[in-house]
Amino acid sequence: MRPNDLITIEQHFLEMQRQYPQATGDFTNLLYDIALAAKVIAREVNRAGLVDILGLTGQENVQGEQVQKLDVFANEAMIRMNEFTGRVCGMASEEEEDIIGADDRGKYVLIFDPLDGSSNIDYDVSIGTIFAIHKRRSHSGACVVEDFLQPGRALEAAGYILYGSSTMMVYSTGRGVYGFTLDPSVGEFLLSHPNIRSPLPQYYSVNHAYLSRWSRGVQEYVGWLQGEGKDAPKLSERYIGSMVADFHRNLLGGGVFMYPGDTERPLGKLRLLYEVAPLGFLAEQAGGYASTGLRNVLDIQPTYLHQRVPVFIGDRSLVIKAEQFIQQHDTGGSDDDPC
Ligand code: AHG
Ligand code: MN
Ligand code: MN
Repeated sequence: MRPNDLITIEQHFLEMQRQYPQATGDFTNLLYDIALAAKVIAREVNRAGLVDILGLTGQENVQGEQVQKLDVFANEAMIRMNEFTGRVCGMASEEEEDIIGADDRGKYVLIFDPLDGSSNIDYDVSIGTIFAIHKRRSHSGACVVEDFLQPGRALEAAGYILYGSSTMMVYSTGRGVYGFTLDPSVGEFLLSHPNIRSPLPQYYSVNHAYLSRWSRGVQEYVGWLQGEGKDAPKLSERYIGSMVADFHRNLLGGGVFMYPGDTERPLGKLRLLYEVAPLGFLAEQAGGYASTGLRNVLDIQPTYLHQRVPVFIGDRSLVIKAEQFIQQHDTGGSDDDPC
């Protein structure tokens, strides 16, 4: 690629901002702050395997700093990079019980899962950071929890950073999905995937260990995905156990990912605010769909920060098919989290 063909993430954000003459630059800079936090986290992820041999597992590292677990590090990196910029009035993290106050003048709230797929950290398997941005609803002062409890449909932006064989940032502001790959030699994200559209499906992704606990509708649906019955698709199975990585593969390669409810976990495991709504927003922007099996995840009015919902996400027709199986076989199901 010649230098003239390179588009950095900063150039791309500025180009997008030009379409909004009234923009102050706050939103653009917030996205750039997230990209910066991502680079700091990526650096730490890439050296995670060295921690043992470099002897940094004790109480302190050579600089006299505490050595942290990667998910704690990622959480703090996201908070530190955003708390004093004046762009966000508060943040909500999957790792924190309550909202985190920032600069009261900020117009936005930032929601994130600092490290998704944390059970894979020790095995050098892809993990990621998921983020979502809402405009605050309250008018002044400290932000309040209601600023965060907005449906996915109202998102200003959402995206993720995937720490895989390379580091990628994928995001949308509701005008298509764009992907950038970190070039470690220049330390910058470069546009590598303009206007991502969901291709024809090849894969389905689910943790089969829970099969006996699924409802009849989900069991029949997964059987259909495997090729049983009328019009069954021909798919292959892939399951990483990092939602962000499973989603990313299916976004580029085509497919459906699901984490349904079951008898032990009626609402599944995944969180509406930190995982499901942001990725649902991206799925829809790429021509796909995300559903609880009963309704579009973007239409859910959240009732509390750590709310969980079942999810079927990816190829539109495969997700609609999940809804049909559930409607046909399951009665009395609910995706409401009363906690
Ligand atoms: P997190 O690491 O943020 O807690 O999320 C883990 C989630 C998600 O990434 C993944 O899809 C799911 O857990 C895997 O769960 P199972 O091991 O039950 O399949
Ligand atoms: Mn997660
Ligand atoms: Mn997490």
